[in-house]
Amino acid sequence: MKIAVRYYSKGGNTKKLADAIADALGTEAETVDRPLDERTDIVFLGSAVYANGVDESVKRFIRKNAGYIGTLYNFSTAAIAPSTYKQVKKVAEENGVAMSEREYHCKGSFLFLNPGCPTDGDITRAVAFAKLAYKDAE
Ligand SMILES: Cc1cc2nc3c(=O)[nH]c(=O)nc-3n(C[C@H](O)[C@H](O)[C@H](O)COP(=O)(O)O)c2cc1C
Repeated sequence: MKIAVRYYSKGGNTKKLADAIADALGTEAETVDRPLDERTDIVFLGSAVYANGVDESVKRFIRKNAGYIGTLYNFSTAAIAPSTYKQVKKVAEENGVAMSEREYHCKGSFLFLNPGCPTDGDITRAVAFAKLAYKDAE
C-alpha cells in the first residue's frame, strides 16, 4: 500500500505531527510543495488555522494532486479554532477527492496560548490515528 504524508506548517506544530505519523508508517513527511508522483492509497494531509483559514498551498496541493489521491486523511493544529476538516473537505469535494471521516486535531502553541502543544500525548494520539487509518485501508 502506498502512503504519503504532506503538511503545511508555519511554526512547526503541524510538522511535529506529520513527522511522527510518517515515522510510524515508515515514510517521510514532506511539505505540500512536493507533488505526489504516483497514485497513493492514503494521503495524510496536515494543516493549521491561520486567520480562520487554511493556507492556500494546502488547497493547491489537493487541486494539483487530486488524480493521485486514493483517500485523504486530515490532521491539523490550531490555537483555539476547531480542526481544518470542513475547509479541507470542501476543497476535496470540489476536486472529486475521497476524504475519510477519520481525522486528528489538537491544540498548537501560539504566542502565550497552549505552551508545549502539541504535547507528547498529542503526538501519541496522532500516531494512533494514523495506524487506524492504515488499518481502514487494509
Ligand atoms: C498568522 C497566524 C494566524 C493564526 N490565526 C489563528 C486563528 O485564526 N485561529 C486559531 O485558532 N489559531 C490561529 N493561529 C494559531 C495556529 O493555528 C497554531 O499556532 C497552529 O498550531 C500553527 O501551526 P504551525 O505551527 O504548524 O504553523 C494563528 C497563527 C498564526 C501564526
